[in-house]
Order: sequence, then C-alpha cells, then structure tokens
Amino acid sequence: MAFTDERKEQNLNFDTIVERTNTDSLKFDFAVRRGKPADVLPFWVADMDFKTSSFVIEALEERARHGIFGYTDPREDYDAAVAGWLKKQHDLTIQPEWILNTPGVVFALAAAVKAYTEEGDYVLLQQPVYYPMTEVIVDNGRKVVSNDLVQKDGRYEIDFVDFEKKIEEYRVKLFLLCSPHNPVGRVWTKEELKRLADICLAHEVIIVSDEIHADFVYPGHKHISLLNVDERLQDSSIVCTSSSKTFNLAAVQIADILVPNRELRHKLRKQIGAAGYSQVNAFGLVATKAAYLYGDEWYRAVTQYIYENLQFLKEFVKQHIPQVKVIEPEGTYLVWMDFRDLGLSTTELQELIVNKAKLWLDDGYIFGKQGKGFQRINLATSRSFLKEALERIERAIQTIKEKPRKGEYDHE
Ligand SMILES: Cc1ncc(COP(=O)(O)O)c(C=O)c1O
Repeated sequence: MAFTDERKEQNLNFDTIVERTNTDSLKFDFAVRRGKPADVLPFWVADMDFKTSSFVIEALEERARHGIFGYTDPREDYDAAVAGWLKKQHDLTIQPEWILNTPGVVFALAAAVKAYTEEGDYVLLQQPVYYPMTEVIVDNGRKVVSNDLVQKDGRYEIDFVDFEKKIEEYRVKLFLLCSPHNPVGRVWTKEELKRLADICLAHEVIIVSDEIHADFVYPGHKHISLLNVDERLQDSSIVCTSSSKTFNLAAVQIADILVPNRELRHKLRKQIGAAGYSQVNAFGLVATKAAYLYGDEWYRAVTQYIYENLQFLKEFVKQHIPQVKVIEPEGTYLVWMDFRDLGLSTTELQELIVNKAKLWLDDGYIFGKQGKGFQRINLATSRSFLKEALERIERAIQTIKEKPRKGEYDHE
C-alpha cells in the first residue's frame, strides 16, 4: 500500500451527517438494549460521528479485496509508522521492541493489573475517571484506591499530599494514570507529571499511563508523554497508545502498548498470552499504518473542527443555559459539564437528560461518586447535531418549575 499519486483527502467536510444507525454502532443502535428510550440522541461513548481519513478507507478496501484473511502480525513498517507518529506528535522516541499489541487499551490495562499486582492489592487511580479503569481493577479481584482530583476555581488539580499518603497507606504497587484525563479534560503539565513520577519512583510504584487521548489537545496546552518526563521511568512505566481515538478506528481493535523495560514487558506479554490473545487484527494493522502515514491532513482538520465545536458549546451554554457550567477541557473531545446548580438529585438529573431532553450522555456518577451532578458530552459530531443536543438541554431545563434547592443536589 502506497499513495504515491496526487490523491487528495476526501473526508474533510465534518458538517456532513453520516447515518450511523443500522451499522451495529454501539452508540446508535443499542439504546433500548441499554435501558434508554429508542429515540434518544447519543453523545456518550467516545467515538466520532465522522468518516475516518479516506486514505484509511482506501487502504482497508485494498486489503479486503485481497480476499485472504489469515493470521497477521506487525512487520517493521508497522512499527516504523507507529514510531514516526509518536515522534512527530509528541517528540517521543521509541524502540520497536517496546511495542506490545493488544486489541485495545482497556485490554492492556486489565493485563497490566494482573501482571503487576496480586489479588487483594490496591491499585491507585484518580477519580472521577474513565470507568473501565475501575472495572479492570475490581473485576480482577484487586481493590480501588482513589486520589480524588480536586476542583480549584473550576479546574481539576492533583492533591499530591493525598497521592503519596494513599500510596503509603494502601501499599500501592500500581498507578493507572489517565493522561490526558477523561472525563475532566486536563492535560497534565510536565511539572505535575514530574511530581507524580517522583513520588512513584520513591515508592517503587509502576505507572501505566493511558495516553489514548494524547492527540486531542487544545491550543495553549501540550501533551507530555510520561516516557518524556524522566529517563528513570523507562524502567517503571508503560504508555498505552492507539490510533483508535485519533482516527476513529475503535472497531478495528488494535492498540500499541509501549513497555521499555524487559522484565515488565515479559510480565505483560505473559498476561496478554494468558488471556488467549496472540495475532493482531489485519484491518487494525492496515488502518493504523495508513492513518499514521497519510492521515495528517484529516487529523489536523478534525481537531480544528472539534475545537470549533468546543467554542460553539461554550458560547451556547453561556447564552442559553448559564445554570450549567462547562469545565473547560484542555484536551480530549469530551466535555465535563456541571449541572449541580440545578439542585437535582442523580435520578432527577437522569430524568431531565434522558426523558425530557431525550439525550444519551454519560452520567457523571459512573466515573466515581465525585462525578455526581455532572454529565459528559461528546463533541466529535457535526455542529448541527451538537446544536440539537444543546437546544434539547435548554428546553428541558426550561421545564423545571420549582426553585433550585441550592447546595443540595443529591439526597440519595
Ligand atoms: C481513557 C480511555 N482509555 C481507553 C479507552 C478505550 O480504549 P480501547 O477501545 O482501545 O480499549 C477510552 C475510550 O473511551 C478512553 O477514554
């Protein structure tokens, strides 16, 4: 596969609405099965309503036409494409042997929990956080300990004293870092990462840094890969990357997990093998390679569109629903919105969003109890679709008759 001609990117009009129903889409086709009314508009799971780069589509078509779908494994050109992207995007230099492939980042998080902890151990994370992080800990018989993020003037920060205290008190061996952070949208600064790293190095804590959102960072912020924070971290940390968020490829199921240290790599590989996984998805290979080699123009355009969606959302909320506070994201295409001033209980807020606004968002409390009163909305959609969602929220809020019960949003 090589695009040597003058071919132009075809998929740069993100205002186009692409019909996603009846495509086995988790976001669009499963409302009823997941307990929601059939007519909700979905803005929950983190995929995009945009077609991926036309270079990726063409590469997949070419691969499909070959017609043989036997076992596949990544070759040097795959590793080089991954390494090239990480170097260009994040100035991260990797060695090909660091890469372990899994069908997804969550799979790798689960394997890491099993590889680096024993049953009954505590694993540290920072809630409110991407809920499968909690699930892979609990479902593997480990326990969750959270260094809760704290809000200062509307921005989430790390309580470093609590972070170290939790590590000592719960004898933590493994920390799952979400960087950039889903759902609160923080892009951690080098200083913050260095402070976390110093504490983990001092207490021999392994860090698994989930950097799946690294390519979505808004102007004025910069993603720093954990492996660029301190050389010593090469022996005690792992970075999870994937083309899936950046190029909307979740369904082709491939992730690139960077494990510089041999012993850690060996342990992780063993757990991946123990789960019965060995060869990668052929379409994942082809799509990732095409995306990283030829998808740059599409990527720059999609991130610009999403940035404009964010500006649109902020302005709409300011003008029409000032009762709702936007936690301004520094990265990710997800926005964490604070509905607490409406004075609704968790159930009442759900009723407002699902049954009155007819929207399917992610309820804040699923990210941890710290998320109660919040909702997460996905910006990676056409502007008209986003506008419809915001107008629905506006109309639903107008139906609230009673006065807000200030300060008490949850009585359950
Ligand atoms: C922080 C984070 N990690 C991992 C994933 C999912 O990764 P995968 O589909 O590769 O398992 C998501 C998807 O929303 C995410 O937000």
